Amino acid sequence: MNTNKLSASPARRHSTGWRRFGEQAAIFFRGFLEHPGMVASVVPSSRATIDAMLAKVDWDRCRLFVEYGPGVGTFTTHILDRLPPDGRLLAIDTNARFVDYLRETIDDPRLEVVLGSAADVEGFVRAAGHPCADYVISGLPFSSLPEAVAEGIVAATYRVMRVGGAFMTYQFRPTARDLTQAQFEKVDTGLALFNVPPCLLAWGWKHEDPLAAREAAE
Ligand SMILES: C[S@@+](CC[C@H](N)C(=O)[O-])C[C@H]1O[C@@H](n2cnc3c(N)ncnc32)[C@H](O)[C@@H]1O
Repeated sequence: MNTNKLSASPARRHSTGWRRFGEQAAIFFRGFLEHPGMVASVVPSSRATIDAMLAKVDWDRCRLFVEYGPGVGTFTTHILDRLPPDGRLLAIDTNARFVDYLRETIDDPRLEVVLGSAADVEGFVRAAGHPCADYVISGLPFSSLPEAVAEGIVAATYRVMRVGGAFMTYQFRPTARDLTQAQFEKVDTGLALFNVPPCLLAWGWKHEDPLAAREAAE
């Protein structure tokens, strides 16, 4: 279903089009120069990658969407454009420059940008007043993170996710997909060729609780 009809007016940005693109590219590149290991890419994700990743989301069932590593908001505004009017987007990034940029340039009451690590997602979700997340998308450079940190983030994501929700990743290396396969019951995969460089896509689904599914059907 095309839920654009259901969503609120497009997220208000203080700049749009080529101007915003130029601003984002400059801030992203600066962020990369300052923290190359944490940002791990010089080019934000492409529109084709964004559309492919978000196509599997059931927006009608989305109350809380969580984004890890939003950077300069490459996905953020597209998520807001699809999110229902009563939905919320919680964006978590360790980079203060990116957090400030998003807070200053996206004026949308559904968006909360927090400075911190995705490892603490459970606390952030609770602090935002939600029992669980419906969807989590990650732009984290999993292959640059210490193994225990990467595994801890995926485990915390599984715990915070509602049954039927998905953990979505896009990464040049297979690390995120492999970590997702180790934790989630079902994983769909894809390839975004129109991205610099091409990247692997993965959707890890937390299985429908069989008892709840049976009760819902009765
Ligand atoms: C490759 S950039 C992705 C940017 C953007 N989502 C995109 O698709 O173009 C990685 C982002 O992850 C952030 N990051 C790295 N480690 C993190 C962590 N543990 N928790 C939250 N954000 C983190 C970085 O600051 C950076 O913004």
